[in-house]
Amino acid sequence: MDSDGDGVGDLAGITSRLDHLGTLGVDVLWLSPVYRSPMDDNGYDISDYEDVDPLFGTLADLDALVAGCHERGIRVVMDLVVNHTSDEHPWFVESRDPASPKRDWYWWRPPRADGSAPTNWESFFGGSAWEYDDRSGEYYLHLFSRKQPDLDWENPEVRQAVHAMMRRWVDRGIDGFRMDVIELISKEADLRDGVPADGQTLASPVGVSFGPRLHEFLVEMNHEVGLSAEHLLTVGEMGMSTIEQARQVTDPARGELDMLFSFEHLWQDEVPGQGKWGLKPLHLPDLKRVLERWQNGLADIGWNSLYWDNHDQPRAVSRFGDDSPDHRIVSAKTLATVLHLHRGTPYVYQGEELGMTNAGFTRVEQYADLESLNWAREALARGLREEAVLRALATKSRDNARTPMQWDASENAGFTSGTPWLPAHANRDVVNAEAELADPDSVFHHYRRLIELRHFDDVVVDGRFALLLPDDPAVWAFTRTLGDQVLLVLANLSGDPVTISPDDVPDVSGREVLLPTHAPPYGSTLRPWESRIERGRFDPGTS
Ligand code: NOJ
Repeated sequence: MDSDGDGVGDLAGITSRLDHLGTLGVDVLWLSPVYRSPMDDNGYDISDYEDVDPLFGTLADLDALVAGCHERGIRVVMDLVVNHTSDEHPWFVESRDPASPKRDWYWWRPPRADGSAPTNWESFFGGSAWEYDDRSGEYYLHLFSRKQPDLDWENPEVRQAVHAMMRRWVDRGIDGFRMDVIELISKEADLRDGVPADGQTLASPVGVSFGPRLHEFLVEMNHEVGLSAEHLLTVGEMGMSTIEQARQVTDPARGELDMLFSFEHLWQDEVPGQGKWGLKPLHLPDLKRVLERWQNGLADIGWNSLYWDNHDQPRAVSRFGDDSPDHRIVSAKTLATVLHLHRGTPYVYQGEELGMTNAGFTRVEQYADLESLNWAREALARGLREEAVLRALATKSRDNARTPMQWDASENAGFTSGTPWLPAHANRDVVNAEAELADPDSVFHHYRRLIELRHFDDVVVDGRFALLLPDDPAVWAFTRTLGDQVLLVLANLSGDPVTISPDDVPDVSGREVLLPTHAPPYGSTLRPWESRIERGRFDPGTS
């Protein structure tokens, strides 16, 4: 929500919309980065960790937002971006001088004998991960854009500076951190070449994810900042984490993080080895199996986070549901039901609770995200047809999730009185908060009820998970069990009716429908995209 008409959402704008969050029932608000930044990567390139960027307001605006949240019992989690800084951060500016004490705060390395970059690594945003600096004749490492140089966490001064900064935010009243690409902070000391894929010259970086000192750095950070304090929440973005690694990171006895974001479920509609732009239709059993493994893997130790959407992912209803007018509402509700009934902490990304859809851009020039634009440029240069590039962007670009929040049906969706930084979606006339709050059958109220259910039902929080019909390509069904209490989730993830045989559902007595997507009758056939949560009991002797 933009409060000052410059077309960009800001802190005072969010504060003016806290009732929306209160009504939805959320417990915690995660703010994407609001620190000072040249905005090369929407604020994930920070030039001052201690201040708010004027684009978003002032420190006083942030304090007011935190106070407004706390009054409503909502905690505030800040994004913590400390794998890298902006190249405009004073630490890096100083570090450019080889004689500076900050030189080894970053990864500076001499060229190879032939003058080329120290390794053949490709940045996650395309191009070499090394940038040559004339002044010293050396390269610096940037796993993301060249304006995002990687900090060298081997240096204890870097770690101490980060800890001190975090303590200042906690003292200011912040309730925790979402830690950006935190799996990358420990890198293997011998930076070495990767193996390029066929026909490529650059390779994925090696030895940078879950490096040898990652756990040590997390334990140290937890200890130095006091992150295990009851009121603080920590979640690490660790896309490549295995389940075993996640068990370690989130085992409370080790004192690292509360939970992490794995990406594994989001790789299921990608061609293996081709990254996010290699589109593949989803085979539902793959997705179900991934979530099942994470449920089982973290059942006794650790804790899952649950999410479909965030600012880096396309909209869930367009990706895994059906965003056509016939099925948008019900498929958005069903995706929410399935996710929220898993065990873990569910995350709702702005507008997901309205069933907001992908941006619907049809030209490259409509995109603003540097990852999308870099990839499109390279793909076109490689000879990929424009039509294929546009299809990949329309399916996967991060801008799909970044169009303005749709508050009402007006020209800019009630987001700004000025010109929005990305255009408001054409479907704001039907998909908007004002209309959905007024409609008890809306996607919004379905999310509200799911959150309410979790607040009052221990089975949602703690029940043991068991997947039913794992190989069914359309049905997503599972139970959650606590003592003799059972929740049964039955969902149709397709546009055709499906029939579930009673033999495939465990013997549960006293079945009662709690949260359906459709009006009765409730039989063994689920209508297109229909789902429901039922409550029941396992009688003694059954399991
Ligand atoms: C992950 C963030 O979510 C993404 O938006 C950002 O571009 C990269 N990390 C780099 O900070």
